[in-house]
Amino acid sequence: MKGHFPLDKFGAVRTPFYYYDTEVLRKTLETIRAEVARYENFVVHYAVKANANPKVLTVIRESGLGVDCVSGGEIQATVKAGFPTGKIVYAGVGKADWEIELGLDYNIFCFNVESIPELEVINELAAAKGKVARVAFRINPNVGAHTHANITTGLAENKFGISMNDMEKVIEIAASMEHVEFVGLHFHIGSQILDMGDFVALCNRVNELLDKLEAHRIRVSHINVGGGLGIDYQHPNRQPIPDFASYFKTYADHLKLRSYQTLHFELGRSVVGQCGSLISRVLYVKQGTNKQFAILDAGMTDLIRPALYQAYHKIENISSDAPVQTYDVVGPICESSDVFGKAVDLNAVKRGDYLAIRSAGAYGEIMASRYNCRELPQGYLSDEFV
Ligand code: LLP
Repeated sequence: MKGHFPLDKFGAVRTPFYYYDTEVLRKTLETIRAEVARYENFVVHYAVKANANPKVLTVIRESGLGVDCVSGGEIQATVKAGFPTGKIVYAGVGKADWEIELGLDYNIFCFNVESIPELEVINELAAAKGKVARVAFRINPNVGAHTHANITTGLAENKFGISMNDMEKVIEIAASMEHVEFVGLHFHIGSQILDMGDFVALCNRVNELLDKLEAHRIRVSHINVGGGLGIDYQHPNRQPIPDFASYFKTYADHLKLRSYQTLHFELGRSVVGQCGSLISRVLYVKQGTNKQFAILDAGMTDLIRPALYQAYHKIENISSDAPVQTYDVVGPICESSDVFGKAVDLNAVKRGDYLAIRSAGAYGEIMASRYNCRELPQGYLSDEFV
C-alpha cells in the first residue's frame, strides 16, 4: 500500500497535511448510491461535521447526497460548495438566532428541533419573515450504542433530543403554531457503531413510536435515523469501503416504514473516514530509557482523536522498508496526551521519513486547532498530486 502515496510529489507540500484519496472517496460514494438505490424512499445526507474541506465537499456534492449541518457555519460551507439548500437538514441543541434565520432564508429542508424553547424561537423568527419552517423533533430513543462513552448520544441522560414521553406533547404544541410545520422525527444513537444489533434496537424503538402516533392519527412523513456506521480503523486497506449493504439492509428489514414515509440517514465517518490520511514527517528519533520515540511534526492539534478518545489509528512509515522496530509515536505539543500510538511497530524510522496516520478523513482536519499557535493543517485531494 505504500506505493499508494505519491511520495515523490509530497516534497512540494508542507507537512503535516491531510491527503484525501479521491478514488476511495468516489468508490465509497458510488457504493452508497448503488446500495440506496435498492430501496424506495431512502435518502442519504452527508454529516458535514465529519469533514468540511471544500474540495472534499465538492466531490460529495457531485455524488448527489444531501447534507446534515449542525451550525450556521456548516450551512454556509455547504451552500458555498453548491449543495442545494432544499437538501439541508439542520440539527443542534443550541441554535443561535442568526443560524435559524440563515436556515429560514435558505428555505432548508428541515430543522431538527431539540427542545420546546427552541421550537418557540423558530416559530417567532419564521413569523417575522412571513415563513413556515419545516421541523422534525429529535427524540431521545434511550438506546445505548456499544461505542466510546464520549460519542454515545441516544441515552436518556445525554443532553440531546426530547424525551420519548414528551413526543406527543411537542407535536401538539407544534400543531398549534402558525409558522412551523411538523414533518418528521429524528434520532441518532451514537457514532462508530459496528454492531448492526444497535441499529436494530433503534428500529424497534422507532416502530413502537410510529405505532403510537398512528394510534393517535398523527402522520409523520420523514423519519431520520441519524448516522453512526463505523469504519475498520485496524485494517484501512483491507476494508476501505464500510459495509453499507448490511447497514441499509438492517433498516430495510427492521424498520416498518409506511408507504408515504421517507427514511433519511446522516452519515459522516463512513463516507469520508477511510479516504483520508494525516501525512507527517519525523523530526527526531529519541532514545528513552526503555523505549524509543518517533517525534513527528504533526500533533494533537492536527488530529485530536487519539488524545481525546484514546482512538486507534493505524500508523505506517511510508518512506521505508527497513526491518520493523517499536516506537511510541508522539507529536510536538506541550501536553503528555499528545501521543498517536504507544509501542507501534514501524519499518525503522529516521529523521525526514513520511508517516501516514490512516483512517483520518473523518473528524480529523475539521477538529484541528491552533493551540501552541500552530498553523492549521491543509488538505489535498490525491488528484492534485498527478
Ligand atoms: N447525526 C447526528 C445527529 C450526529 O450527532 C452525528 C455525529 C452524525 C449524524 C454523524 O455520525 P457518524 O455517521 O459520523 O457516526 N468527533 C467524534 C465523533 C462525533 C460524532 C458526533 N455526531 C469522533 O472523532 O469519533
